Amino acid sequence: MIEFKDVTKKYADDPVLDKVSFLIDKGSFVYLVGPTGSGKTTVFRLIIRDIMPTEGAITLGDWDLLSLPRSRVPHLRRRVGVVFQDLRLLIDRTVAENVMLPLEFSGMSEQEAREKAETVLSEVGLEGKFDKFPLQLSGGERQRVAIARALVFEPEIILADEPTGNLDLETSFQILDLLQTINKKGTTVFMATHNNKLISEATRVIILESGKIIEDKKPGKKSEKKRNFQDEDKLEDREDKTKETGEKIKLETLAKK
Ligand SMILES: Nc1ncnc2c1ncn2[C@@H]1O[C@H](COP(=O)(O)OP(=O)(O)O)[C@@H](O)[C@H]1O
Ligand SMILES: [Mg+2]
Repeated sequence: MIEFKDVTKKYADDPVLDKVSFLIDKGSFVYLVGPTGSGKTTVFRLIIRDIMPTEGAITLGDWDLLSLPRSRVPHLRRRVGVVFQDLRLLIDRTVAENVMLPLEFSGMSEQEAREKAETVLSEVGLEGKFDKFPLQLSGGERQRVAIARALVFEPEIILADEPTGNLDLETSFQILDLLQTINKKGTTVFMATHNNKLISEATRVIILESGKIIEDKKPGKKSEKKRNFQDEDKLEDREDKTKETGEKIKLETLAKK
């Protein structure tokens, strides 16, 4: 689905990403974890062709993003929905208008755009908030508006850049649940975060540090090496518990850091 092959991005002579390679499967949920400045946002900007790599190759499905004609970039931005780190909501527009705008820019009529926006806003739990302005909403609700806007074109992939960055833990879990629900409906979700508490063991985690991937932990790898039924039972128990309590398990490797 999304593939990075030895992607290097330099500003002046400083590499911000250094030979980064990964492959994200269609329909998966993947975390991109790393401290501030490790290159997470840069990875996302490369995927929407906001910037070009200095070296390496990036493909999305069968599209080579390096040779993709500029005229196709709007199409790319419909295949990939982005929840920006700074949300980028227009504070002088209502919730519905914020979500309608990209649709109207693409040529949809106002009425059609409103209907689509209201459907998507309802899906993210914002029925009753259509006519509010962003500053009248809570942080979690604003995040939901940004997610709704990223969903309006029914993209194949959602990139969520630290969507819980400014939220308390409980609200963070609610946003995470929403992204997981979206993922279960078939959309690939690639989420950047530096909050280890949100990461469950059952999820793929790519860890960036200073522009390099230091770990790519795929779920189920433990049993792939050597089938140990005892461990699998334990894992299942824990997953059940996670489901019941909504409590997420810290990744051991991250907890050690
Ligand atoms: N346009 C730019 N020009 C120069 N340096 C940049 C630019 N954008 C990002 N950087 C640098 O690249 C590094 C990674 O940034 P970023 O991808 O935003 O990291 P993260 O999202 O993980 O915090 C940082 O050191 C940042 O200062
Ligand atoms: Mg960032």
